[in-house]
Amino acid sequence: MAENSNNKRRDFLQLSTVTIGAVGTAAFIWPFLKSMNPAEDTIALGTTEVDVSQIEEGQSITVKWRGKPVFIRKRTKDEIDEAKTVNMSDLKDPEEDVDRVKKDEWLVLVGVCTHLGCVPLGQKLTDSKGEYNGWYCPCHGSHYDTSGRIRKGPAPENLAVPPYSFLNDTTIKIG
Ligand code: FES
Repeated sequence: MAENSNNKRRDFLQLSTVTIGAVGTAAFIWPFLKSMNPAEDTIALGTTEVDVSQIEEGQSITVKWRGKPVFIRKRTKDEIDEAKTVNMSDLKDPEEDVDRVKKDEWLVLVGVCTHLGCVPLGQKLTDSKGEYNGWYCPCHGSHYDTSGRIRKGPAPENLAVPPYSFLNDTTIKIG
């Protein structure tokens, strides 16, 4: 009888410990999980809206998105034609131009060389655009074409296309 009551007491003690343990863990996890959810102002900073109405054909601008430069270029007809008539077998990182743009005249790229992270030249009218008329990274000599695809040099991949959408004909939302 005494042993039975001791067992019950032990069960109760064990149960209490488990319950307290579970509550303690939950109380610990909650603030941790909460801290993993980005605050709303952080989410807002994750997008950038750009008015592209002033950009002329053949001009580019650079905007900042999440701390990185993003190139927005209004391509000329020749640049579009060049980008579309490339043999996939000539590309190190084969990607059709149509899969890299939403509208032929607008090219949106993360302006960070995929070799070691320099910012390639080609944004200013006076910049070298490399052998493929797009962008040139002078750090170690990577050449990108008019679709931002790597064509020559050590960079392993094309310039990345960030997530973006057209809010209307003249506003692009990046992120
Ligand atoms: S960082 Fe661009 S070629 Fe090396």
